[in-house]
Amino acid sequence: MYAYTYSKYGGPDVLNCVELPTPTPKANEVLIRVYATTVSAGDWRARSLTMPVGMGLIGRLVFGVRRPRKPILGTDLSGVVEAVGADVTTFQPGDAVIGFPGAGFGAHAEHIVMPADGKIVHKPEALSFDEAAAIPFGATTAHDFLINKGKLRAGERVLINGASGSTGSACVQIAKHFGAEVTGVCSGANADLVLAIGADHVIDYNVEDFTKEGPQYDMVVDTVETAPWARTRHALVPNGRMLMIAGSTSDIIFGGLKARLDGKRLIGGVASESVEVLRKVVQMASDGHFHPVIDRCYDFSQMMAAHAHVDTGHKKGNVVVTVTAEILSQRRVVPTLPTVVASR
Ligand SMILES: NC(=O)c1ccc[n+]([C@@H]2O[C@H](COP(=O)([O-])OP(=O)(O)OC[C@H]3O[C@@H](n4cnc5c(N)ncnc54)[C@H](OP(=O)(O)O)[C@@H]3O)[C@@H](O)[C@H]2O)c1
Repeated sequence: MYAYTYSKYGGPDVLNCVELPTPTPKANEVLIRVYATTVSAGDWRARSLTMPVGMGLIGRLVFGVRRPRKPILGTDLSGVVEAVGADVTTFQPGDAVIGFPGAGFGAHAEHIVMPADGKIVHKPEALSFDEAAAIPFGATTAHDFLINKGKLRAGERVLINGASGSTGSACVQIAKHFGAEVTGVCSGANADLVLAIGADHVIDYNVEDFTKEGPQYDMVVDTVETAPWARTRHALVPNGRMLMIAGSTSDIIFGGLKARLDGKRLIGGVASESVEVLRKVVQMASDGHFHPVIDRCYDFSQMMAAHAHVDTGHKKGNVVVTVTAEILSQRRVVPTLPTVVASR
């Protein structure tokens, strides 16, 4: 099989397309032929070792001290099961699936093996392979933070900072689905996109500072690391919560205590990657309650260009990479999805 590997941290040019033996599934594993994957913010961080302020050392401990520990990137995939281990009963060859290797990576390859009881679900017919691959990273993070950690309630006023990104665009849709009144913070260029996916209001971050309006929100979600607690606290009502999906180490360590002293809460940390959450967001997509935003689709041979686009920090939703030619014929645009071909 062909796969993209890297052996040192750096820009997209550290990636090499190499031929490797196709892995053989163990008794509890499935072998998946990858049809589509994404280049996510997780891939960008692991490849470039770009970490939130103050987390450089933690980054090296997680991704590899001297060189990358996991040579193949790729947090998301859709594809078809090609073989199953002797003990596997839940999947069979030919099943179309969605996988979320997440922090385990490995999806930037023609094949991957994953535990059958891991983060794999059957792909609903209604979703194309491109759409399916664009679900896990952003939507599971959004769902876990908003619903599990943040305990979002219907009727709450929620502000999503970074509403046009992968995680932010999923936060907007999931918060809206659960009955929140949603304000998205994005650039003026992305305002139509953010309104189209369900935001009630948008704030252009180049024009307005949302923290200057006074206490407006029950919940503020930061997905871009531009809303430190010292400023965001002014935007929260008493008992309000901040969900720090991206933030500085200092805020993640000390922000919780500072927030308590203010009569508010700050919730940070890492999204728990679980098959239960994956199942929920895939069901939402299947039911038409969540549309993964796709910015651009690249072919497998264009992996470096896909990384370069993600490196700009300005992608809209998700960047998909098609791994097999089979899905090109099935590629389609979802009517209500603001699928955008970005001009940058
Ligand atoms: N805690 C966790 O477990 C967890 C899990 C997943 C992701 N994350 C982190 O969450 C962050 C977001 O991930 P992602 O995949 O959503 O990133 P992404 O898709 O790359 O985010 C890009 C988006 O951010 C917007 N943006 C850039 N600067 C902005 C600003 N100042 N204000 C508002 N929007 C701005 C861009 O819009 P414009 O082009 O208009 O600027 C673009 O649409 C990353 O740092 C990632 O590491 C954390």
